Amino acid sequence: MKKIVHQRKKCIGCSSCAMVCQEFFIMDKDGSATLKNSREVGGNFELVVENTKCAKDAAFMCPVKIIKIEEVDQ
Ligand code: F3S
Repeated sequence: MKKIVHQRKKCIGCSSCAMVCQEFFIMDKDGSATLKNSREVGGNFELVVENTKCAKDAAFMCPVKIIKIEEVDQ
């Protein structure tokens, strides 16, 4: 399993993540991206997934590099 981590507070709202990865990211009314179905952990937003799919592209595209993919120990 992997974990997608979004440091939402640092989001500058460029919307690249939502463009390349609609499955996981959506632009919110406040101008920041939201990681869909995520839960807040320590100020960041996290979502555990089996397959990161396009989240990798979102992480690559984000200009401020606030989307991370981490391994999750079972
Ligand atoms: Fe924000 Fe990065 Fe997406 S700046 S809108 S998380 S590409």
